[in-house]
Amino acid sequence: MTTATKITMDTTQFNKLSKIIYDRSGIHFPEAKKYILESRLSHRLKEIEIEDFDQYISYLTMGPYQIEEFQEMFNRITINETSFFRNDKQLDVFEKQILPELLEARASTKRLRIWSAACSSGEEPFTIAMLLHRTLGVRLSDWKIEILGTDISEKALETAQSGRYTSYAVRTTPSLMKNRYFKEDGRHFVLNETIRSMVNFEKHNLKDRLAAKRHGTWDVIFCRNVLIYFDDAMKAGVLSMFSSQLAKDGTLFIGHSERIKELTNDFQQLSIPQGFCYSKALA
Ligand SMILES: C[S@@+](CC[C@H](N)C(=O)[O-])C[C@H]1O[C@@H](n2cnc3c(N)ncnc32)[C@H](O)[C@@H]1O
Repeated sequence: MTTATKITMDTTQFNKLSKIIYDRSGIHFPEAKKYILESRLSHRLKEIEIEDFDQYISYLTMGPYQIEEFQEMFNRITINETSFFRNDKQLDVFEKQILPELLEARASTKRLRIWSAACSSGEEPFTIAMLLHRTLGVRLSDWKIEILGTDISEKALETAQSGRYTSYAVRTTPSLMKNRYFKEDGRHFVLNETIRSMVNFEKHNLKDRLAAKRHGTWDVIFCRNVLIYFDDAMKAGVLSMFSSQLAKDGTLFIGHSERIKELTNDFQQLSIPQGFCYSKALA
């Protein structure tokens, strides 16, 4: 077994592994995407000196390292593509339309809670923090703002916690914001401490409804570019969980290519062009 050769996966092995992945995370790999699992996990098998996918499935499901290996596997198979200021038009809707109304609605408590669910390496929740920082200015210290970024990938969360990014991560960041909130350190962009301190990160699997419940109610939930990896049953489950965890007058933002209308009656789309945002349906 040379390091250059890929370990191949037959259809039975693929069916078993993709079911295990789906049961644990809701991530749906159609057979056409077998090559992704094959190429991303081949290297892992070699690292742990496992010769084929049958042995790997046993290692994953029966050995003493199950929990660690699941984590390792999710670190490798998830698609963590993201960037700061991703989909600026949608963020404009958040900053200029949704946020002002929310700040007014919460003026008496001065408490605002925002969840960036499946935040990958943190670019999304940090972008939200920058928008709040810009909007509130000196009023920020009067508010108790909670922004939580969660993801199933520990590796992605480690990057988030480091606050250090490559130029690729800031490729869609307006230069004004880049100058204001980042410092260049060689080939890296280091995020300003104030913005870093506004966001907490935690590992969370969107299948875990109980853990979501423990976090209480959110005023805004961002869950962008994640539902596309799930099948309809998982999407419906996640949306029902969001519906339970979103404040009555809260807003849900999803990715621009995602559709939820046929999957839930809990949400109604706001008629804001480019918003891809939803409020809770009236009971
Ligand atoms: C393409 S990224 C999207 C990041 C960000 N929301 C954005 O729009 O830029 C998708 C993220 O979903 C995460 N993910 C996939 N399945 C998940 C699950 N069951 N629970 C939590 N996160 C999950 C992946 O680890 C990955 O970081």
